[in-house]
Amino acid sequence: MTAEPKRNAGYRAAAMVEDGMAVGLGTGSTVFFAMERLGERIAGEGLSFTGIPTSYQAAIRARRYGIPLAGLDEYPELDVAIDGADQVDPALNLIKGRGAAHLREKCVCDAAREVIIVVDPSKTVDTLSAPVPVEVLPFALAGVSRRLSLLGAAPVLREGVKKDGPVVTDNGNFILDCDFGAIGEPEGLETAIAAIPGVLECGLFTAYTEKITVIVGEKIGCRVVSLH
Ligand code: 5RP
Repeated sequence: MTAEPKRNAGYRAAAMVEDGMAVGLGTGSTVFFAMERLGERIAGEGLSFTGIPTSYQAAIRARRYGIPLAGLDEYPELDVAIDGADQVDPALNLIKGRGAAHLREKCVCDAAREVIIVVDPSKTVDTLSAPVPVEVLPFALAGVSRRLSLLGAAPVLREGVKKDGPVVTDNGNFILDCDFGAIGEPEGLETAIAAIPGVLECGLFTAYTEKITVIVGEKIGCRVVSLH
């Protein structure tokens, strides 16, 4: 697939940012395009806003585009968050966390009045079925693995690339990728995973459907989906 769908989605999201806003900045390749366009708007129009990055990756990229940054301490409430997703279902439930950033992404999503999800068409599905990333306290790895197995997954510890051993998240934790097959009740599964001691967050996002707008970038233009 070419970059055009992701670029079109990212650029449309960037057009929704206004002067003075506090803007959550998600992680991943589609949000990069939003940041690229926001950087152009800062340079060209003098757009002024503050970005709240969800990862080292997002912060490094945002600085490159001249986006001023702050944290949730300074901005516990955000006007909007722009983020990507790995799967989106018709009810606007999401699976996130391919980049292991979903813990901070969920904090930012929760803090935002409005959430813009930018995806290419390959991310839209009838039923969520991708492996669900679960961020786990290393101390509790074995116990959390056992509990996730009882929920029906076969948890796999995510391994680093160009780094031996497990991925260590920006928060110092491990990731278990949990394949549950087709997820019939995403909300119930998210609740069950969250109840396991030692789980920091999972990549299921089911509580934000009312404030989410999904921008599906196409080769030409975008499709915009929301429940409001
Ligand atoms: C990172 C994420 C990303 O938002 C998600 O993986 C989408 O990434 P991309 O836009 O590169 O496809 O959840 O943890």
